[in-house]
Amino acid sequence: MSATELRTVSIIGTGSYIPEKVVTNADLAKIVDTTDEWIVSRTGMKERHMARPDEAASDMGAAAARKALEAAGVTADQVGMIVCASITPDMPFPSTACYVQRLIGAHNAFCLDITAACSGFIYSLELARNAIACGQVDTALIIGTEKLTGVIDWQDRQTCVLFGDAAGAAVLSARGAPHGIRATSLGSDGRLAELLMLPGGGSRHPTSAETIAQRLHYMKMSGREVFKHAVTRMVEACQKALAKAGAKVEDVDLVIPHQANLRIIEAIGHRLGVATDKYFINLEKYGNISAASIPVALDEAVRGGRVKKGDTIVLVAFGGGFTWGSAVLDWDKE
Ligand code: UT7
Repeated sequence: MSATELRTVSIIGTGSYIPEKVVTNADLAKIVDTTDEWIVSRTGMKERHMARPDEAASDMGAAAARKALEAAGVTADQVGMIVCASITPDMPFPSTACYVQRLIGAHNAFCLDITAACSGFIYSLELARNAIACGQVDTALIIGTEKLTGVIDWQDRQTCVLFGDAAGAAVLSARGAPHGIRATSLGSDGRLAELLMLPGGGSRHPTSAETIAQRLHYMKMSGREVFKHAVTRMVEACQKALAKAGAKVEDVDLVIPHQANLRIIEAIGHRLGVATDKYFINLEKYGNISAASIPVALDEAVRGGRVKKGDTIVLVAFGGGFTWGSAVLDWDKE
């Protein structure tokens, strides 16, 4: 198929799932040496949600997926592809996407997980867009789902106050889309992998009594370093995606940034030149939910009436790897 025959792809439905249990900053101050004042002033976060012990990434992903399918008016058997982005999969294999498939009954889909940390949803969007654009499938379900409370070190105040659990999903299709996803820009830099990682449990450091004693099964982050790179890369990614889309900063109606830190979002806003009131922010309620961050925010923006047909939306994320990405899309749905 030649490039001129590529189909235009749109998001035709979104959904999200937030676990019931709320953990406030005051709750965290009882566990580690921290304060509500520090967390709010350094991050903007006030609460985060925690999954039940029996709830895995696929359970939350399936709950979000069902809502996205309903919003899209698509049945599970019409889904041709499921991409699941997560750094907290149910298990190393089978994929979380296969478990979601089983839970929702999408038996005509092929399924895969991707590991791109907080950028996972935008990476998934691009993979699914390409599969639909070139005619491999007609409808794809993409999911970001995380149970980060299971992999944070509850003795490390530098990380345990930041993360939460949730899932978000979107259905993509070529169905009647005049504009849809206009452009994306993705990037990675493995030279900086050690700045944000979960070192234990893989083939480098298989789980053993020693790796557990060294707490290698928990996430490690050099926060200050990550902060600097996050701002630079997210601004660059937005600029590149906007240029590819042939769009200007003034055309942007809404920016949905990865929700890692209010100060990061403010710094991006300042450098990108898009007015601060055009940024969707919900990190005060959920903290950093990694791959679930953008689809949950997008779903809230859609259901809360922040997105109107014809709006130009910019998604942008940064995470471990390092990975980063941005997507520019025109909202096609009423
Ligand atoms: O989602 C993937 C991408 N992740 C991110 O984008 C996260 C990027 N990083 C950040 O958001 C910020 O770097 C943090 C929120 C993680 C930290 O904020 P910061 O302003 O960079 O603080 P810092 O790490 O420079 O620490 C400042 C001080 C230190 O004390 P001293 O050395 O100045 O005495 C820390 O020990 O704050 C201390 N500190 C805390 N104090 C109270 C660190 N964590 C806490 C805490 N409560 N929870």
